[in-house]
Amino acid sequence: MRKKLVAGNWKMHGNLNENDALLSALVPGISALDNKTGYAVCVPYPYLATVQAKLQNANIKWGAQNVSQHEKGAYTGEVSADMLNDFGCSYVIVGHSERRMLYGESNQAVAEKYLAAQKHGLVPILCVGETLEQRDSDTTEQVIDEQLKAILTLAGVDSMRNAVIAYEPVWAIGTGKTATPQQAQDIHRFIRQGIAKQNSELAADVTILYGGSVKASNAEELFAMPDIDGGLIGGASLVADDFIAICKAAHS
Ligand code: 13P
Repeated sequence: MRKKLVAGNWKMHGNLNENDALLSALVPGISALDNKTGYAVCVPYPYLATVQAKLQNANIKWGAQNVSQHEKGAYTGEVSADMLNDFGCSYVIVGHSERRMLYGESNQAVAEKYLAAQKHGLVPILCVGETLEQRDSDTTEQVIDEQLKAILTLAGVDSMRNAVIAYEPVWAIGTGKTATPQQAQDIHRFIRQGIAKQNSELAADVTILYGGSVKASNAEELFAMPDIDGGLIGGASLVADDFIAICKAAHS
């Protein structure tokens, strides 16, 4: 049985005080929820140490939002998977559309990051998704197929054993425009079927999250769809009550 997961992506938000207040509310709020669902926050690098200290004994895991594909070396400004391990990270987001679009990360670079994360025992949260232009020109499935193919070619289908996929339609991120549950379900199924062509058992087990304007008010209907196994939450993960409500929706 695949596990549900609700992960917050804080993006470039927060500071020591705000993070402390947010986590002080999340820890008791989420400790009251069942552990059949996993919970996590993906935070900016500089806060990993304090987040680790704060979540040490909580049922919330933590991770980063990006990782270098390289082991070590002259890569100014980069952070390796091994470094993330020093701070007890469980997860790392790879291939978020903001990184693909603003920092030019190619499918190949994302696949290398995914592989680097797994090599060091981190679970990559692989983001895939189409832009509005791609959806309008009916190339959504082709775009997602290419994004997935890069991973399956480099890391192999067995890598899906230790990975989470997040379908995040770019047009739904931070726009308040959520994919309808059926729109999201259709792509989640497409993703699962794509993996099933290589290994149906792993496809049935891989956790596929939806991301893009998930709110307390729409989480339940999204998470009720058969192939949606939780969410990757941006804006609403910065508001304790909202994030807790979304976490609750994943196991209701
Ligand atoms: P929003 O929830 O703010 O739309 O962001 C989604 C996202 O990009 C999560 O990675």
